[in-house]
Amino acid sequence: MTELMKLKTDYAGRDFLSLLDYTAEDLAYFLDVADYLKAEHKAGHETPYLKGKTMGLIFEKSSTRTRVSFESGIYYLGGMGLFLSSHDLQIGRGEPIKDTARVLSRFLNGLMIRTFSHDIVTELAEYADIPVINGLTDLLHPCQVLADLQTIREHKGKLAGLKMAFIGDGNNMAHSLMNGGARMGMHVCCACPEGYLPDAHVVAEAQAAAQDAGGSVTVVNDPMEAAKDADVIYTDVWASMGQEAEKAAREAVFAGVYQVNDKLMAQAKADAMVLHCLPAHRGEEITEEVFESHPEIFDEAENRLYAQMAVMALLLLDK
Ligand code: CP
Ligand code: NVA
Repeated sequence: MTELMKLKTDYAGRDFLSLLDYTAEDLAYFLDVADYLKAEHKAGHETPYLKGKTMGLIFEKSSTRTRVSFESGIYYLGGMGLFLSSHDLQIGRGEPIKDTARVLSRFLNGLMIRTFSHDIVTELAEYADIPVINGLTDLLHPCQVLADLQTIREHKGKLAGLKMAFIGDGNNMAHSLMNGGARMGMHVCCACPEGYLPDAHVVAEAQAAAQDAGGSVTVVNDPMEAAKDADVIYTDVWASMGQEAEKAAREAVFAGVYQVNDKLMAQAKADAMVLHCLPAHRGEEITEEVFESHPEIFDEAENRLYAQMAVMALLLLDK
């Protein structure tokens, strides 16, 4: 076995709930470790940072990427992941989160949860003695954005100073992109319709972080304005998980305007990347043509594996 990189112990035992819980230096280190794990994995080298350790993966919502990248990532790190569906757990029958947290802490070394209210994740983290990773809430999706930052850095060689436009609903993705982009000194501009703007408190926090890092965070209504000279164009579904009943009403507001298409791409830099957290709804937030001409979307999906392996290796490390 090749010698393993010695990881910093500074993050051992911490939670990963929001990107704003970490400094720019921290996030850059997470990305360095993610790049290292990617290179080692592709070279066929083992990286058993989770040898003998277990991670519980609680899902209260559907998932393809998060579930499979966490499960396979834990395996590649030499640990064992337990998929825990809320349909089967006692939390689905009303057992309190705080009890679940204390019980699972006696069995496991780490927990990931995908759920609805962000308060559920913070409560789980408060009562758990083990690191808790946010695998998506209605408010934030930090694992996705860590992988997005890794992908942008890979393709553009840097993050600070780049302009990233988010087109669509002011949702969990918009929030985490503002947080992550702001921390790394990017210029993040979200174009969202009235009534679907990002949370004002999240915007204010991200703006403060951006100011410290020499970047900016702005919110506009016009997608063309956001896309102007952008290095990265990002979009996501108009109706997120849990908003299925609003689908038709949302379509009426977003259709035809909040779409990444050739006209919008003409506003961006000629070499602009297109990113989408996936799953994508072609013909809605992105056209088939734009989607199929930007294969970096699949590099982005791939990096979920390595970004999360980095998070788990660092948080579950013995001090
Ligand atoms: N992007 C993302 O989190 O995908 P899944 O919902 O498939 O996990
Ligand atoms: N905003 C989307 C992201 C899915 C990865 C949702 O919450 O459904």
